[in-house]
Amino acid sequence: MKDVNVVLGDITQSECDCIVNAANKTLLGGGGVDGAIHRAAGPELVRECATLGGCATGEAKITKGYGLKAKYVIHTVGPIYSGAATDAELLGKCYTNSLELAKANNLHSIAFPAVSTGVYGYPLETATRIAVDAVSAWKTANRGYPMRVDFYCFNERAYAQYVLTLKNTKY
Ligand code: APR
Repeated sequence: MKDVNVVLGDITQSECDCIVNAANKTLLGGGGVDGAIHRAAGPELVRECATLGGCATGEAKITKGYGLKAKYVIHTVGPIYSGAATDAELLGKCYTNSLELAKANNLHSIAFPAVSTGVYGYPLETATRIAVDAVSAWKTANRGYPMRVDFYCFNERAYAQYVLTLKNTKY
């Protein structure tokens, strides 16, 4: 798939127009990538988040990036894995809604972490398939809009899974 990359590294170092945070519904910070992004952005980030009134699972909200290299942070809330059919739909919406929000703000590059695959327990293989399919569907529906997508993987296992999934994805 054109301008879709897999990166092994820390998403807070991304120079994309926006980076996506795997947040919780309060948007007031947490551990994992949420904690890393808030640490790198600085205290102004949580102050802006506190004005947003939280975020529902599958939805996305945008803030400035403050101390980050990225100009914006798009906060999305992944499903806590339960095995319910709605898990996949909600996880896919995280990617679709984040891309829609980036487009609405005229952004042309976005970095995603592996949403829900940490604390929220989503099995990596299925979550990666859902992420890649959601991005592919969005790019097919938005052919005329240049959007670079970087999947940021924090460990070798996730990196290998994304590379394999993208290789097996015909676009
Ligand atoms: N850069 C890129 N990826 C990272 C980073 C980082 N700095 N830190 C962690 N990750 C990866 C994890 O390895 C995992 O693959 O992000 C993925 C998502 O894991 P979590 O951060 O645990 O997010 P999630 O599973 O969606 O759980 C969200 O955790 O931190 C809390 O407040 C957050 O309640 C929310 C929950």
